[in-house]
Amino acid sequence: MFLNDEEKRMLNGEMGIVPQKCMEYLQDEGEAAGAECLIDLDGTADFHTPMTAMSYRYQFGIEELRKLVESGARFKVPVFANKSPFLEGKVTCVHGWKGCGMAPHNEEEYHERCMQKEFMDLYRKMGMMTIHSCDYYLASTYWPTKGQHCAWNESSALPWVNAVLGARSNIDGNFASAFLGKAPAYGFHLDENRYATVYVTSQRTISTDLEYDLFGFAVGEECGLAVPAFANMSRPTTTQLLKLHSAMNTGGSIHMYHIPGTTPEAPDMEYAFHGQKPRQEYMVDDARLKKAYETLNYHTGDDVDMVSLGCPHMTVVDLMYLARKLEGKKAKVPFWIMTIPWLYHIAREQGYLEIFEAAGANLMTGTCPAAMGGVPEGVKVLAVDSAKQSYYITGRYPDDDRRLQVCYGTQDDCIEAALTGKWRGEWR
Ligand code: F3S
Repeated sequence: MFLNDEEKRMLNGEMGIVPQKCMEYLQDEGEAAGAECLIDLDGTADFHTPMTAMSYRYQFGIEELRKLVESGARFKVPVFANKSPFLEGKVTCVHGWKGCGMAPHNEEEYHERCMQKEFMDLYRKMGMMTIHSCDYYLASTYWPTKGQHCAWNESSALPWVNAVLGARSNIDGNFASAFLGKAPAYGFHLDENRYATVYVTSQRTISTDLEYDLFGFAVGEECGLAVPAFANMSRPTTTQLLKLHSAMNTGGSIHMYHIPGTTPEAPDMEYAFHGQKPRQEYMVDDARLKKAYETLNYHTGDDVDMVSLGCPHMTVVDLMYLARKLEGKKAKVPFWIMTIPWLYHIAREQGYLEIFEAAGANLMTGTCPAAMGGVPEGVKVLAVDSAKQSYYITGRYPDDDRRLQVCYGTQDDCIEAALTGKWRGEWR
């Protein structure tokens, strides 16, 4: 891969050990991906903290990071923290941890350790905005614009940056890209990889939140890594886009797609395909949606022990609608609601937090059951309204002796389960 003189000097260690490790990482990543060179980022970046999202051989310690910060080094582009910090493979809560009922997350000492203040303060000094959410971009107040090159992460985020904003990113947000402001020039940074290759239509017009979730999961399973163009969609809400994106990247790994007339690089179907014929055509009929529903819904009885909503993390509008539904009600089982930490303060100001607390629901931020490593002891059946949460939470229970069953359905199905302890959701 071609490196310019400055990049070569970094690689040789002439600019210090951290730039050297970063350049080694970007060179190895670029060569593995077949990139011809690095591009300069002019958009934004994010990565999972506290580690650098670079593999072990490129890591450096907190001492080296401290020296770097003391030398005045800063991130080259605006950088945001994805989810709250990881500790031993688990992601803590920023708010709501005291009432979550799940050890060790509800213990003060563990929470403090998890937030890793020393590490995070160094990143803050370098310019990182510690929003701590899988959909941090909804609270970031700053988006890249069409065509700008970025380095982002996360299932719901990649289609957002590529397909919704028309900016450009592979799933490669890491310290090196954020610090040096560079990324290998491959994949969705290049025009030729952004055009649609698979034509996808559906028997019904995809319109409800559940349909977006199931459609996304089915399309992910069928299309894998391709760039689909969708023919029969309503105009999606933000909530529906979050569902579509996270589900497509659960069933498969779709970071770019087109909805002609809606997404910025597809004024019409022909443009989406760049005048070429689709390599594959695919119909999502009702039977295929039902198959996805059944895959995600696996429980033997109708008793529910716990409900979790907010995967991906809820927007402020989702919180408003949920507060309206829960006002004056009382949950019978533990009820978690996940959102973005910065929205916790808005939820309090708007009165939603008070309504949730009165309803026995716990507003939590920065994480979710799958990211926290599971659900409280004793919970055997969890109800969710998210394909992604349904899929990943069970991965936290690989052993037969504590299998978790999941009821999957609409938000209203889940609310009813929270209020009654019974699952009445069904395929409709
Ligand atoms: Fe976010 Fe957890 Fe879902 S981190 S996308 S809420 S699996």
